[in-house]
Order: sequence, then C-alpha cells, then structure tokens
Amino acid sequence: MSISIGIHDLSIATAEFVLPHTALAAYNGTDIGKYHVGIGQESMSVPAADEDIVTMGAAAAAPIIARHGKDRIRTVVFATESSIDQAKAAGVYVHSLLGLQSATRVVELKQACYGATAALQFAIGLVQRDPAQQVLVIASDVSKYELDSPGEATQGAAAVAMLVSVDPALVRIEDPSGLFTADVMDFWRPNYRDAALVDGQESIGAYLQAAEGTWKDYTEQGGRSLEEFAAFCYHQPFTKMAYKAHRHLLNYCGYDTDKDVIARDLGQTTAYNTVIGNSYTASVYLGLAALLDQADDLSGRPVAFLSYGSGSVAEFFAGTVVAGYREHLRTEENQEAISRRTPVDYAGYRALHEFKFPADGGDHATPEQTTGPFRLAGISGHKRLYQRR
Ligand code: COA
Repeated sequence: MSISIGIHDLSIATAEFVLPHTALAAYNGTDIGKYHVGIGQESMSVPAADEDIVTMGAAAAAPIIARHGKDRIRTVVFATESSIDQAKAAGVYVHSLLGLQSATRVVELKQACYGATAALQFAIGLVQRDPAQQVLVIASDVSKYELDSPGEATQGAAAVAMLVSVDPALVRIEDPSGLFTADVMDFWRPNYRDAALVDGQESIGAYLQAAEGTWKDYTEQGGRSLEEFAAFCYHQPFTKMAYKAHRHLLNYCGYDTDKDVIARDLGQTTAYNTVIGNSYTASVYLGLAALLDQADDLSGRPVAFLSYGSGSVAEFFAGTVVAGYREHLRTEENQEAISRRTPVDYAGYRALHEFKFPADGGDHATPEQTTGPFRLAGISGHKRLYQRR
C-alpha cells in the first residue's frame, strides 16, 4: 500500500503595506469596474523598504517551526521568481533566521509561478524515500511590473510556507499529475531588470493552452473525472484568470459553463488573492489557504490544483482533504496577516516601487518600516543583513 504524503501544515505571510485599487484608479483615471470586476482585484500588498522574499518567507515559516519543531526538517526548498541573488539561495537566510539545524539541504527553485509546485513534488519524493523526514517548502514572491503599465494593477507580494510530511494533517497529495511545457514568451524577467515584462493577452492564451494540456495528460495518466472535485485551486495572477481558466476547462470537457457553478467551484479560493494581488509562486497555495479557511467541511473531498508558470510549465494534480483538518488550520493568523497591513497612498506606493539599494558596495541601512518579525536591516559590502525581532 502506498503511504500518505502531503501538506501537514500551511501558513501565510504578506507585506507591511496595502494599496487599494481605488487609489490606483484615482491616479490613472481607470474606471474602478475594470479592476474590481474586469480583473477581480480589490487591493495589492506592497512590501516595505525593509521587507523582501526572505523576510516574508521566514514570517510564513516561523509559526510552522513553533508548532512542529525543527528536528525532522532536513530539507528546505525555497521557490521564487523574484530572487535576490544569482548564486545564494534565499532559503539559506531563512534557515539562519529560523535557527534550523546545520544538517539540512537548502535550495532555491525557479520556473515563474510554477516553482512551488515543483518544490512540493520534490518534497513528496524525499519524504517517500525517508518517511521520518519532513520538508519545509516556502513559496515567496514580490510581483513587480513597470509603473503605468497594464501589469501595474496585478502586482502583489506574499509567502506561503508548507510542511510536507507523511500522514499529513491537511491535504494528501495524489498521483497522477498532468504535465505540460511549451516554450512561449508571455512573461519573463531578464537578469538586468527589476520589473517583469509581460504580454498580458499572450499570457492569458498561454495559460488556457496549458490548462488544456495538463488536463489532457492528467486524464491520459488515469486521473479523476472533473465532477469528482469539490473545488479548484488555480494559479491567480489576477483572480478573474481563475474564472477564465475554469470556464475554458469546462468547455474543453464538454460541460456547460454556468456562472453559479463556476463561482461554487472556485469562488472561495479567490478571497486572499483578491486583496493581496499576484504572489507568483505562492498564489495557487494562497488559493488553497483561502478555501480551507472558509469552506464547509471538506473532509475526504478531492480538490484540484492547476499550477501555471509563464514561459511555460504547468501541472494539474489532486489532493484529498484529510478528516479533522479544521483543527490544524491557521484561519485567524492568516486573516490577521492580511488585515494588519497599513494602507499606503499612491505617492507612498510609488516611492516604495522606486526604492533601490545603491550598488556601490557601501553600508546602506534601510528605513525601519516593517512591524513584522523579520527585517532586512540594510546591505553592507554587497551583503544583505537580516534581523530577527
Ligand atoms: N468594468 C468592468 N470590466 C471592465 C471595465 C469596466 N469599466 N473595463 C474593462 N473591463 C474588463 C475587460 O472587458 C477585460 O475583461 P475580459 O478579459 O473578461 O475581456 C478586463 O477588464 C481587462 O481589460 P483589458 O482591456 O484586457 O485590460 P489590460 O489591457 O489592462 O490588461 C491584464 C489586463 C490582466 C492582461 C494586465 O493587467 C496584465 O498583463 N497583467 C499581468 C498578467 C500576468 O501577470 N500574466 C503572467 C502570469 S499568468
């Protein structure tokens, strides 16, 4: 009999500040209906000058360590596409901030917004090999597009930490997976750029093509039928994209695309993404957090995941929600991570967007802005200096 492996604990973190889309719309003259209805976004998290993927990743993971200890964690996989270093894995800083044991392997994974799903699957493989071990998976990203570009409205920032183990308390991840890769230029970020480049309409088309491709492979691999799923967690670069993808999948499978059915299938997965914005690798797992935190009892019910990363790689897979999972949720903490953010006005957001460390190798302290448990205190000699409060 195969052993049960999956998500044992899940915790989220986001940034210090929040920009409501009403402020962006007032600045650029866009009808707010386009943001609220057209793309399905209400607000977006904006990192403080002393926050980054490390501070958010550590903040998401710290409660997991506090609950489960560190003894069984021998691997940390950090998934991101807003990497802070071309060589050193961001997870090494998190390993240090959390005081994890030295007998740990730490690595960073990248494939646009898909990376965290690769991390989850690799973690499952490691636990399969040695069920005594647990793997800490961290997905952390800051989504940044050019000011005054169409992508500006779909920025955001967040981290999701997941503890992967045998006999998981939350979600058992199943075989098979449906896989899809296609070489497309819908979204990318050359090494010399801070902000991503995106062809928005191309990315919508590429996402839909990937949804079809993963589903086709999933069924060929002997996966479940569509009607078995209690809910669908999609990658959400903007929440309306989940609706587009589900409608496309239903059409592709020959089903009607009734508005109420689509809302029932995925409405609860969008609650966190709609107020946080795009969190790249974390987005699909923020969808899971929102679903588990809000849905009626899902014990024993299969949930579908569609993880998409531009470029593009995608994976469709299923997880079964474990009986008794509600006792292990972090609903209050997750909601607090969102509600504790401080609203920033448009000028303040723009200044943060343009904030950049000088690249001269000197000593540069960051303004103390975040009230979170970890901060990026500055850089010195090209080294990032982190603090635990
Ligand atoms: N009220 C309601 N809806 C409105 C509206 C209004 N006043 N004005 C426009 N809309 C709708 C449009 O009809 C459209 O809906 P549809 O897609 O269902 O047709 C939607 O709002 C967006 O309008 P559009 O003209 O396409 O906006 P845009 O040119 O600004 O582009 C994105 C929107 C999402 C493509 C753009 O923000 C983007 O590129 N974001 C980045 C996406 C990304 O990260 N992709 C990579 C990862 S998958």
